[in-house]
Amino acid sequence: MNSTVPVPAVVSAVRLMTADTSLLTLRTEAGHPVAASFLPGQFLELSLPGVGEIPISYCGYPVPGGSIELCIRHVGHVTTPLKAVAPGDAVGVRGPFGRGFPLPEYAGQDLVLIAGGLGMAPLRSLLLALVKRRDLQGRLVLLCAARETGALLFLDELLELKAQGYIELHLAVDKADNCLNGPPDCRVALLPALLDLLDIDSGRTCVAICGPPVVYPLLVSRLQTMGLESARIHLSLERRMKCGVGRCGHCAVGTRLCCVDGPVFSNAELVGMEVSLA
Ligand SMILES: Cc1cc2nc3c(=O)[nH]c(=O)nc-3n(C[C@H](O)[C@H](O)[C@H](O)COP(=O)(O)OP(=O)(O)OC[C@H]3O[C@@H](n4cnc5c(N)ncnc54)[C@H](O)[C@@H]3O)c2cc1C
Ligand code: FES
Repeated sequence: MNSTVPVPAVVSAVRLMTADTSLLTLRTEAGHPVAASFLPGQFLELSLPGVGEIPISYCGYPVPGGSIELCIRHVGHVTTPLKAVAPGDAVGVRGPFGRGFPLPEYAGQDLVLIAGGLGMAPLRSLLLALVKRRDLQGRLVLLCAARETGALLFLDELLELKAQGYIELHLAVDKADNCLNGPPDCRVALLPALLDLLDIDSGRTCVAICGPPVVYPLLVSRLQTMGLESARIHLSLERRMKCGVGRCGHCAVGTRLCCVDGPVFSNAELVGMEVSLA
């Protein structure tokens, strides 16, 4: 497989999730690694012919038949035209790339997933993997925050997983007025404040974080106060990327490359690298 050449994919479904975010389902050649063998936290490069190419996280779980789910926020020169794609349209994909969440390390542990805004997309992939083998974990907790209730991604699915007893779920939004009519147990709070609701066993808990990098230092510092070692905290970082395969150097994180050494790093790996998480 040549990882620098996109393979064709066809849009099979489009679902508008919020005013500026869509869920695209793509179909590609059955059994191709880009669809069949990715891990939660990894990403692919999505190309729109004649427009450009961007890194996007996997937000589903590998299923037979070559289908891929991607959650895309329409913000710029590639992602805005992607709002207009429809079933039957052609795109290109190459991947999977990068290092995802360390699933084997999570076996037998309590897991806390912390998602802010669009960070719910890669964490949904992890959540689905953990739910699929629910017998392998202890507690499975999701802390999820967004600007307003309408921006809480995959809310119906999360409430259903909670109702079925798969997950403990704590939700927060920034704005009070929207929360009043929102889902049960939704607080008006910032993401780090949700940690105050948890009583964790720090010796058997791992934490996976994906959200706006500006909240990472606060989350990490609160988790450390709760007794969590840095090696038990995993963060997904975003950097501007070009090649996605470690050749161009665009995505440097200290002495590492985000596209091959990340995007998921343990906090222990970032300590001493003078990497600004903000
Ligand atoms: C490993 C990795 C995984 C990613 N996964 C996803 C994903 O699952 N879904 C997704 O939608 N995006 C994801 N991104 C970000 C995505 O690649 C960027 O949104 C995209 O590169 C923006 O491209 P653009 O050409 O549309 O915007 P540009 O034209 O490059 O940017 C336009 C404007 O939008 C701003 N901008 C860029 N990105 C964002 C953003 N994410 N949020 C708010 N403002 C932004 C820029 O600063 C600029 O001001 C990921 C990035 C990385 C590195
Ligand atoms: S994007 Fe080119 S080295 Fe990472």
